[in-house]
Amino acid sequence: MEIERLTGVLGARATGIDLGDLDDSSAAELRAATCAHEVLVVPGQELSPGDQTAFSHLLGPYSPVPFVQPVDGHPEVIRVVKEATEPEAFNFGGVWHSDFSFLSTPPAFTILHAIDVPDVGGDTVWASMTAAHDALDDGMRERLAGVKAIHSASASYSPAQQGLHAQLSGMDIRTSEDALEVHRHPLLCTHPETGRRSLYFNGTYVRGLEGPGIDSADDEQVMLRWLHEWTTHVRFTFRHRWSEGDVVIWDNRSTQHVALNDYRGQRREMTRTTVVGNRPAA
Ligand code: SIN
Repeated sequence: MEIERLTGVLGARATGIDLGDLDDSSAAELRAATCAHEVLVVPGQELSPGDQTAFSHLLGPYSPVPFVQPVDGHPEVIRVVKEATEPEAFNFGGVWHSDFSFLSTPPAFTILHAIDVPDVGGDTVWASMTAAHDALDDGMRERLAGVKAIHSASASYSPAQQGLHAQLSGMDIRTSEDALEVHRHPLLCTHPETGRRSLYFNGTYVRGLEGPGIDSADDEQVMLRWLHEWTTHVRFTFRHRWSEGDVVIWDNRSTQHVALNDYRGQRREMTRTTVVGNRPAA
């Protein structure tokens, strides 16, 4: 396996491997590379939903997927698809987020396999929350250390958003009142495998903040806006232009990402699996 860095901040490409035929030691190497580089691109893979499930299990058990219905016969796989005939539709994952951070135990890894990609557009962009953390000055790091972020899917999967999801005919997304549930995670977290600190934040699922320096609704709104601007700054990002057969594995514990919706009139289809994580810890 060859690993080549793709930016000076995050992202690497792994070549010389077949994810459909991986032994345990190569899987461990791949996992370590994903944790180290935060996003790992593995080009030229041909995985059926069953193969993708088997590969995911090499990284860990399935992380349950709320709201989005799985592919028939493959309960651990979801299809992320926007049809060419849905030019005005919103796209799945089209706002900055870390996958399902609103769960008590969010997924460690997401594995996305490109099945059908637009001729132009449809890139995904990731931001390193490790780099965003490391660039904080000491004063700000100290100030944020005691803050808890309140995560919820309320702005994405509550019944008020059912009409939005219904625009995507290739996906079966069922909103529910469960989206109102909240979980508090520390804003500054330590990665359980690398020991590196990061800002566990995303503007989509973090709906509130609690702790030192957050004394009013105004403080909260100002800090939420600042955190969104800071963590998604272009200097912390890596952008991937998809080719069919690409598999990208990313670490949700140290990144957030956004799927760009700039491929009007073209089709885009991916299959996705997620691997269980642990409760985010300071
Ligand atoms: C997602 O957020 O899981 C989807 C990302 C993408 O489609 O690029």
